[in-house]
Amino acid sequence: MSFTGVIVQARMGSSRLPSKVLMEADGKKLLSYTIERLKNSKKIDNIIVATTDTNKDEAIEKFCIDNKIDFFRGDENDVLDRFYNASKKFNFKNIIRITADCPLIDYKIVDDVIDLFKSGKYDYVSNVDPPSFPDGLDVEIFSFDALEDAFNNAKLISEREHVTPYIRNNKKFKKTNLNNNRDLSNLRWTVDEKEDFDYISKILKSVNSKNYYCGLNEIIDLINEESDLNPENSKFFRNEGYIKSLLNDMKSKYQNSFALLNIAKKIIPSASQTYSKSYKYFVEGAAPAFIDRGLNAHVWDVDGNEFIDFSLGLGAITLGYNIPGQNEAIINQLQKGISFSLSNKIEIDVAQKIIDLYPSAEMVRFVKNGSDATTACIRLARAHTGKNVVAHCGYHGWQEWYIGKTDNDRGIPQTVKDLTQSFNYNDIDSLDKIFKNFKNDVAAVILEPIGLDYPKNDFLQKVKELTHKNNAILIFDEVVSGFRIDIGGAQSYFDVVPDLTAIGKGMSNGTSVSAITGRADLMKIIDEGAFISMTFGGETLALASASYTIDILSDKNNFQSIIDKGSMYLDGAKKIIKNKNLEDVALCPGYPTHCGIIFKPHNDLSPLELLSVFQQSLIADGFLTTGINNFCLTHTEDDINKYLTAIDKALDSVKYVCEKNSIKEVLAGELIRPIFKRN
Ligand SMILES: Cc1ncc(COP(=O)(O)O)c(C=O)c1O
Repeated sequence: MSFTGVIVQARMGSSRLPSKVLMEADGKKLLSYTIERLKNSKKIDNIIVATTDTNKDEAIEKFCIDNKIDFFRGDENDVLDRFYNASKKFNFKNIIRITADCPLIDYKIVDDVIDLFKSGKYDYVSNVDPPSFPDGLDVEIFSFDALEDAFNNAKLISEREHVTPYIRNNKKFKKTNLNNNRDLSNLRWTVDEKEDFDYISKILKSVNSKNYYCGLNEIIDLINEESDLNPENSKFFRNEGYIKSLLNDMKSKYQNSFALLNIAKKIIPSASQTYSKSYKYFVEGAAPAFIDRGLNAHVWDVDGNEFIDFSLGLGAITLGYNIPGQNEAIINQLQKGISFSLSNKIEIDVAQKIIDLYPSAEMVRFVKNGSDATTACIRLARAHTGKNVVAHCGYHGWQEWYIGKTDNDRGIPQTVKDLTQSFNYNDIDSLDKIFKNFKNDVAAVILEPIGLDYPKNDFLQKVKELTHKNNAILIFDEVVSGFRIDIGGAQSYFDVVPDLTAIGKGMSNGTSVSAITGRADLMKIIDEGAFISMTFGGETLALASASYTIDILSDKNNFQSIIDKGSMYLDGAKKIIKNKNLEDVALCPGYPTHCGIIFKPHNDLSPLELLSVFQQSLIADGFLTTGINNFCLTHTEDDINKYLTAIDKALDSVKYVCEKNSIKEVLAGELIRPIFKRN
């Protein structure tokens, strides 16, 4: 019985360099080099070639027969099947996987991997996870049992095509890695392209001229001694084939999403109703584009893939999806009617709840989106002061007075743009400058009282004093922070009360309603010629939903439980970043219920490249995020623990690309598109 056997995987049909394994370098076929170099090992019981059962691989069979090498022919694409059946036929207990395009394979490294494998009860040992040897000296060894498990359970195309991903990615297998004493993974000694072949041929010629065995160290010496062995072909990246098959996996995993996206791109600008929900802000090709349904904090895409959602409808979801009590409240209202010809009592009910919770709230008016609410506040401030200029800090929606200030400003007259001036968070002087430049013409100061940064040095209090000193109106845009940092918003949390407040997103757990609230004298201007009105302002389903949501969030234990889950995540993520020494690359700004991981540029890599690599990994593992996280009542501790495990893995990918100074080996889809400049 044969115990430790090498399976050399070989085929003629390589797309980049057909027939490469039987190409001759310095008078000998590449496959002969691979096998002869392996034969030096005393720890290998047998070496076989596993090729496909297609006609074109008759040539490999003939080569094996001519050279008295055992062979096996099996499935062309399901290489896992080929390995499994070959191992069974030859009674291999331990299998070493070598690819035939590695004619510089070093038997000494193979022996080291075998020794390591046998030193513990390992299921799998390799020298590629992470790689530190030149690409082309890859060795993997695994037990027949692990192979059989993978054969029975691996489903993805990449898992079948590349034999070991199922074992490598599955925690149930005991694994370790052989590391080289220095990182040589940037060297490319494999043959995928014509340029590789030319380069490796030169090395083989030099190796053949020596009368001693040339392993890794000897070849490095040759390269150092002989100038024309410079690694001129390293422009090709490691594992290109693996990334291609990952993309193929995505094609089947997200096939319904991609089909819908193709249609949507033709009939819906950005294929989405909301800027940040567009396919453009996810790794296109490696992410779903359409969600079908949700339950608690989990969602399912149109292909049935499940995700734990940390974007939560861009912060609109505070309880979770498909919440029975909310459904009931909406259905009860639905059975009475949706929009009427006069007002409905529920408007009073929800208005009173907001007045009870928000220190600035004396009267309330409902609108539909955050943009409606912020714009209404600006109008009231201008009407009250008779002044024109708005000083702003943050994002406030799609209306002209604000978006004209960004570089997404087409279609907005210059005169409108000139009336809005930006100041910086935690920089009171930048606001003071606006008051000085626009003496007596600043109507309003509007800001997000907290974005991802906390106020420092009494910033909010100072903004209030400066604004009032200049007879302007202070508006807090609490479209995000309302019902998130605190049930009573940032104004309660920081104890700074503005004149007017815009609330939106989280107040109704996903239905469309927002609110303007504040001083009664200002709110009453709506009756005195400042026109703020819309057909659906009092639409009752959204208000029934808001009424229920506010009640649930008003329970202190409920709100605290959202904060606890967010804190658990935030503390965990910061710890992972610290342990990985990534503090110069990744930051976790924000507060527990709304916080992000943001990336800083690293060498040649942009924040967007790092975010793309990070997000791709999370989505592949079943977590939906844009990089900004929101938490909701139905997130569980188990959800957070799983998320942290996935964050750990995603940050390993980030660390890897930082070390390589390239995302080429890792990013399977399109880079996330940059968002527009806001100030
Ligand atoms: C702080 C802030 N204000 C206003 C808005 C605009 O809200 P909406 O998109 O509902 O119009 C947003 C939206 O993201 C926001 O984050």
